[in-house]
Amino acid sequence: MTKYAVISGSTRQNSLSEGVAKAIVAGLPEGSEVNFLEIGNLPLYNQDLDANSPAEYDEFRAQVAAADAYIFVTPEHNRNIPAALKNALDVASRPWGQNVWAGKPALVASQSIGGISGVLAHHSLRQTLVFLDVHAMAQPELYINTSVTSDMETGEVTNEDTKAFLASAGAGFAEYAKKFVD
Ligand code: FNR
Repeated sequence: MTKYAVISGSTRQNSLSEGVAKAIVAGLPEGSEVNFLEIGNLPLYNQDLDANSPAEYDEFRAQVAAADAYIFVTPEHNRNIPAALKNALDVASRPWGQNVWAGKPALVASQSIGGISGVLAHHSLRQTLVFLDVHAMAQPELYINTSVTSDMETGEVTNEDTKAFLASAGAGFAEYAKKFVD
């Protein structure tokens, strides 16, 4: 069975991003292994740490390496991905020559309570994933306006049509990911 790592760009409790991620995960085949990765505890990447990496880096890199496929859900912060997500991408891309993201499939979704649904963060993330040699699924495009789809307190997606759409995207991603998994 495919092993999925879910990476939310939001580090806050009950985030809207996590709610969207859970709705996508609901569409994965039964029995899939799903690991929600913690990124908020990673020290800010510094190349000096390549020689003697913190335990948090080692654990995160191992979790990324163990995954067959990635599900990214990001909010937008000042028209880009949040710093915590960029940091996580950087941490697991280094030391040079040891980019553990490489060669695997990804689902990319953005969400925002703003009208453009995080589209700029979404495409910034896709651009970085290209460089990291991650194969982001092109369709469907997931730009979710959580002001109309989700519960602001719990982060959960409550709109039934959106739930169904996100679950179908998860199911489609499971098919896409098979092309990359032995
Ligand atoms: C935001 N937000 C935001 N929204 C947006 O559409 N474009 C933007 O540039 C920004 N910038 C921004 C900066 C900072 C520092 C914060 C804290 C927030 C709003 C934010 O993306 C939105 O509320 C998300 O829906 C929150 O997602 P989570 O954290 O609940 O997953």
